[in-house]
Parts: sequence; C-alpha cells; structure tokens
Amino acid sequence: MITASIVGATGYTGAVLTDILDGHAHVQIKTLTSKSYVGRRVSEVFPHLRVQGIYREYSLDAVQGSEVVFVCYPHGEAHSVVAELVEAGCRVVDLSADYRLKEPRDYEEWYGFRHPRADLVSEAVFGLPERYRAEIAKARIVANPGCYPTGMLLGLLPVVDEIDESGVIVDSKSGVSGAGRTPTEKTHFCSVDENFKAYSEVGHRHTAEMAQELALAAGRFLAISFTPHLLPVDRGILSTLYFRPKAGLMGTEAWLERYRAYYQAEPFVEVCDHAPSLSEVVHTNYCRLTVREDKAAGVVKVFTVIDNLVKGASGQAVENMNIMFGLPEDAGLRRRV
Ligand SMILES: NC(=O)c1ccc[n+]([C@@H]2O[C@H](COP(=O)([O-])OP(=O)(O)OC[C@H]3O[C@@H](n4cnc5c(N)ncnc54)[C@H](OP(=O)(O)O)[C@@H]3O)[C@@H](O)[C@H]2O)c1
Repeated sequence: MITASIVGATGYTGAVLTDILDGHAHVQIKTLTSKSYVGRRVSEVFPHLRVQGIYREYSLDAVQGSEVVFVCYPHGEAHSVVAELVEAGCRVVDLSADYRLKEPRDYEEWYGFRHPRADLVSEAVFGLPERYRAEIAKARIVANPGCYPTGMLLGLLPVVDEIDESGVIVDSKSGVSGAGRTPTEKTHFCSVDENFKAYSEVGHRHTAEMAQELALAAGRFLAISFTPHLLPVDRGILSTLYFRPKAGLMGTEAWLERYRAYYQAEPFVEVCDHAPSLSEVVHTNYCRLTVREDKAAGVVKVFTVIDNLVKGASGQAVENMNIMFGLPEDAGLRRRV
C-alpha cells in the first residue's frame, strides 16, 4: 500500500483526486488538507463522495510519512509547500503550474512571481506520461501538465517533425470547472449558461507551457497561436489544432496511420475515425483524437477531447503516481469518476 495525501483537497481537482485514490486498490489516503473546511467531513463538503475522512489544516506534521503528496493549490501558492515536502522526503505530484516551466525567469513573465527554487525547477519532470514516462518513474517532483497543454500536446506529438515554419493554431473550448471552484463574474451560471465566448484571446498562460514542450519535442521553436473559449458545460476540453505540413499533403488515411502507430501501446490515448465529442471522455482518463487533411486549404486538422479534471489534471496525476511507484499505469483509472 502507498500512503498518499492531498494538499488543497477541497478544490475541484482535489475532489476528483480524493474519489480516484479512495477507489485505488494500492493506495491508502493519509491526510486531506484544506484552509476553509478544517474539521468538516468529506461527505459533508462533497455529498457525492462516499469517502470517510475529515479535512485538516496543512502542516508538514499532518502529511509527514506520506510516500506521495498531491499538491492542488493555485499557482504561486504551491512552490514553497512542494519544496518543503520534497525536503522532508515525500515524492510530490504538483497539479499547479509552479514547476512546469523550465526557465525560472519565465515564472515572472507568465505567472507574476519570482520563483525562489531554481534548483527544484530544473529537477522537476513534466508529467506527460506519453512523453516522459522513464523520467517520471524516477522523479521526486512531477509537474502535472495543464489541462489545455495536455490535449494540445497529445494531438501534436506524433507530427511535430511535419509542422512547417508557420507553426500551429490551437483553438480550444473548455468546460467551466477548468477555472476552479471559486465562482467569478466570468464563470457565474448566468454568464455562462446558454452562452459561449473566447477569453484570454492572446497570451493565455498555458501558451508558455505549450511552446516549451512543443519546442523540446520538435527540437526547434514553433509559433503557437492559442485561443481558449468557455463552454456552457461542467467538464471537458475540445481542441482543434491546425498546421501546414512542411513536406506537403499525404491524405487523411496516411495521417491516421501515423497517429495509430504512435499511440498503439498507450493505455489512455485512443485514435478514432470519427470527430470525437466530450461525452465520450468526460469522467474518464482517456484522450480521444482524430485527424483530417483539408486539401482545399492545405492544412491538417487534429481534434482532441479530454476531461480537464481527469486526463487534464487528477487522473493524469494518479497515472504519474502509478508510474513513480511501479504500479500498472491504469491502476485506479478504469472506472468513471
Ligand atoms: N480545474 C482544472 O481543470 C485544472 C486542471 C489542471 C490543473 N489545474 C490546477 O490545479 C490547481 C488546483 O485547481 P482547482 O481547479 O482544484 O482549484 P480550486 O477548485 O480553486 O481549489 C483550490 C484549492 O486550493 C486551496 N487554496 C486556495 N487558495 C489558497 C491559498 N491562498 N493558499 C492555500 N490554499 C489555497 C483551496 O482551499 P480551501 O477551499 O479549503 O480554502 C482549495 O482546496 C491549480 O493550480 C490549477 O491551475 C486545474
């Protein structure tokens, strides 16, 4: 049994993590922490969770002895807790953005804080199993990818060498849970219901992570124009990715073959023939995708769907834990959450 704790367990990602870990045959939950719900029962805060447990205030003592700790704090709040935990001997999966960027000075530009731990930034492994499985297995800190970058990277990794110098257009639509549990004017029911709009039209923070990982995979810089949109649904992200192939068109079937070959051994990426919909993946850890060649326009279009809270966050975090502890990669991840 692996002893696991969740720091910031009362957010949306923390609640889904609690559910997955509670049903995981190899995990015992030690501590669930909160700021606002200390002393309250899990089933009182989240009546749909049939999980025993009471939220405690975070302290190193409260989680000490956990073999793995999942940190589900907002960006800027996580890095010091992650550092403290690693130094106390815990392995950490950080769901925030605080260790995803490789260049410490990028945190100032994209997230507005000076990162105090350049040493740990360089040590952290970007937790996309389909790309970094071997590194994740040995990591002390796994920087769990952002939700938009997960869908985007899974859609482009098989073809990074084929993208021409015009780069990539990433057009994504997300459910409202992507913004976390605290409502804002933008995410209020009355703003979102029966409505649809773009936001952070240029320069969304996830662009930095997408550009970093696409460049590392391609071995060269590729420009990314990313536009997120807010869908009037709870969960799920659909991304449509556009690029021009540098060696010319080769037909939809040839692209599909490339994707099928690349992902044939992957437990959580499904290449399909149809344009996938959110309902096929929400509440699961699967990414489903397909590709089309648009001959008239000379572009290739890739369509990917994930659940932002599962493959885009907590499910992928558990997948990373499974890899870190030598468990079957799909342990605890085959049921709907
Ligand atoms: N939502 C998504 O789809 C998604 C996907 C991928 C990654 N992420 C990332 O995962 C992290 C958690 O996201 P979430 O959606 O679960 O957020 P959330 O619903 O807003 O929950 C945040 C959690 O952090 C705690 N918290 C809030 N402010 C804090 C502070 N100043 N200091 C310490 N704790 C604080 C909250 O505690 P109390 O409520 O107990 O006060 C809550 O447990 C974020 O960094 C987010 O960017 C989210």
